[in-house]
Amino acid sequence: MRIVVIGGTGLIGSKVVARLGEQGHDAVPASPASGVDTLTGEGVKEVLQGADVLVDVSNSPSFADDDVLRFFRTATTNLVEAARSAGVGHYVALSVVGADRLPESGYLRAKVVQERLITESGLRHSLVRATQFFEFAGSIADAATEDGTVRLSGGGVQPIAAEDVAHVVSRTAAGDPLGGLLEIAGPEAFGLDEWIRTVLRARGDARQVVTDPRARYFGALLGPDSLRPGPGGELAPTSLAEWLTR
Ligand SMILES: NC(=O)c1ccc[n+]([C@@H]2O[C@H](COP(=O)([O-])OP(=O)(O)OC[C@H]3O[C@@H](n4cnc5c(N)ncnc54)[C@H](OP(=O)(O)O)[C@@H]3O)[C@@H](O)[C@H]2O)c1
Repeated sequence: MRIVVIGGTGLIGSKVVARLGEQGHDAVPASPASGVDTLTGEGVKEVLQGADVLVDVSNSPSFADDDVLRFFRTATTNLVEAARSAGVGHYVALSVVGADRLPESGYLRAKVVQERLITESGLRHSLVRATQFFEFAGSIADAATEDGTVRLSGGGVQPIAAEDVAHVVSRTAAGDPLGGLLEIAGPEAFGLDEWIRTVLRARGDARQVVTDPRARYFGALLGPDSLRPGPGGELAPTSLAEWLTR
């Protein structure tokens, strides 16, 4: 199948393109680097000509509330329209577990808009909601650092390896449309503070992680399960300890 991967140069996208290519698919990475810009619409119609499947694993270059909302709203509107006129048979997008539970987060509000545009498009689709990637730990620490100290709550998380996310996104893209949502998470639950502390220690990062129940995660106060999958969620194999040794 011809599978166009929007964001195919990114962390998840590059792994998805490689996996689908190994499986014999014509996996086409598409992003501004290859002349495809979902914000301006440049190259979008052209790259989707003859595509069987569209996979969207792109991300906003800016996480500021207005920017990220503009990114996912405009990009998804353009992609839906182009997918419809190209007759694409399956639209796969990667979202975030708990996106609809944390409206205080501008980023997650934007992901809900993205999901809604796809769900209401009438296109055959699959939404894969993943928990936080292990690889995202450094960015979380940096965003929560003040005067050299990391302040995070003990809210519940169940992070996952990017490689495992790419496996499920690729499998979904090569399969029949789910017509709904699939949640995926790592095998273990942690407090957010505990997870980031473990990663920083393992990397020799001297920053102290202070547990602060009032600390917000990208604008949102976390509960014990806000970022954890529901009972039907699929659990990926790679543990944090295993990932840290890679
Ligand atoms: N981080 C997490 O823990 C987490 C958890 C769950 C779900 N997710 C979701 O996973 C998805 C992928 O994240 P990631 O970390 O793999 O992203 P990433 O590494 O930041 O890659 C972003 C990709 O988007 C592309 N892109 C940026 N602007 C674009 C535009 N205007 N038009 C087309 N493509 C554009 C980039 O292309 P260039 O290389 O050409 O700039 C790049 O290929 C996101 O949608 C995110 O919401 C993330």
